[in-house]
Amino acid sequence: MIGGGFMGRTHSNAYNQVSHFFPELAYRPVLQAVCTRSADKVRAFADQWGYQATETDWRALLRRDDIDAVDICTPNDTHAEIAIAAAEAGKMILCEKPLSRTLAEGHRMVEAVERAGVPNTVWYNYRRLPAVTLAKQLVDAGKLGRIYHYRANFLQDWTINADLPQGGTGLWRMDVDAAGSGVTGDLLAHCIDTAMWLNGAIRDVSAVTETFVKERMHQLTGKVQPVGIDDACIFHCHFENGSLGLFESTRYARGHKALYTFEINGEHASIRWDLHDLNRLEYFDHRDESVVRGWRSIHVTDGDQPYMNKWWVPGLGIGYEHSFIHQVADFLKGLETGQSAAPTFRDALQTQKVCQAVLDSAAARSWKDTGVEGKVG
Ligand SMILES: NC(=O)c1ccc[n+]([C@@H]2O[C@H](COP(=O)([O-])OP(=O)(O)OC[C@H]3O[C@@H](n4cnc5c(N)ncnc54)[C@H](O)[C@@H]3O)[C@@H](O)[C@H]2O)c1
Repeated sequence: MIGGGFMGRTHSNAYNQVSHFFPELAYRPVLQAVCTRSADKVRAFADQWGYQATETDWRALLRRDDIDAVDICTPNDTHAEIAIAAAEAGKMILCEKPLSRTLAEGHRMVEAVERAGVPNTVWYNYRRLPAVTLAKQLVDAGKLGRIYHYRANFLQDWTINADLPQGGTGLWRMDVDAAGSGVTGDLLAHCIDTAMWLNGAIRDVSAVTETFVKERMHQLTGKVQPVGIDDACIFHCHFENGSLGLFESTRYARGHKALYTFEINGEHASIRWDLHDLNRLEYFDHRDESVVRGWRSIHVTDGDQPYMNKWWVPGLGIGYEHSFIHQVADFLKGLETGQSAAPTFRDALQTQKVCQAVLDSAAARSWKDTGVEGKVG
């Protein structure tokens, strides 16, 4: 494990839990070593989560021959360098999203893992919430018919204060050099990954971005510096299947903490989902008898619904953390079959292409092709 922040915790929890709930898996994670930059903090993290050894330099971690897999849970500016070195060291790689800051970095990362032939996955974890996986099953079964519209939002409100600094611990997301972009790479990347998984390739985009607070003090330099990230981004697009997409993300929507929602409207049926009520999928089917036709609120907790036979009893919900446990389980299962758990680095590169086209479109004030084609795994 590299990184001991928010994602270091969610992933460590997943490694600790997975074998309890997926006992049939042939492989079990062993928490061999964790690396963060501070010796005190890394020791405390290792004790809390059960890692056997600690490192403060990720290169030393990669040199260890008692490690088979590396999990990259560090800020975005480190993903490419660590992942490429890990692939060269022959380690399997689980990398946090977004894959990279830039498309160029992403291409180099895909090349490195494919050249090394190492199993790899990127943590677009929302795919593995049972209600979202059920949405995928309904779309793939053709229940919606031809799809006309895909709509997604990811709304937050934590950066409205103009006195909030940028950069450094806890605030690297505000610094374009560390993050690569603002809400586009941080939040819309999730929406784009889910969208292309559910509804296929996004062909072209037209975007607008805004940076509401233009200068902020940088925590590392102590100087007031221009803000390089997008605070908000709205784009519309064409999917390859002919449907239209509409996406919005901001960190300036007062009252919203992590409101990720999507809705899909098809010829026969519509579905919608909301992260704040993550066990539910809403479904409207026009083919229902007209007197009882209406939106159904499906509580996705029954044993025949995705992943739910692994958990408690029907009717009892699960949480955010379970999406990570499911991704570890699928990754371990993939080791048995020789198939990397999607999204792989190559799949995540497709999301990166859309993010790049979105940023380029906003900068140029014109439509941009994404270059994404065919099925996105
Ligand atoms: N899948 C998701 O839903 C999701 C959610 C949050 C964050 N993320 C992604 O996870 C990554 C980490 O985000 P976070 O919220 O956990 O950040 P964080 O700031 O909470 O934690 C980052 C950790 O990385 C460590 N670190 C930084 N540079 C390092 C280095 N050179 N060597 C070793 N350790 C280093 C820090 O000490 C800290 O422990 C980012 O890429 C982010 O985009 C994904």
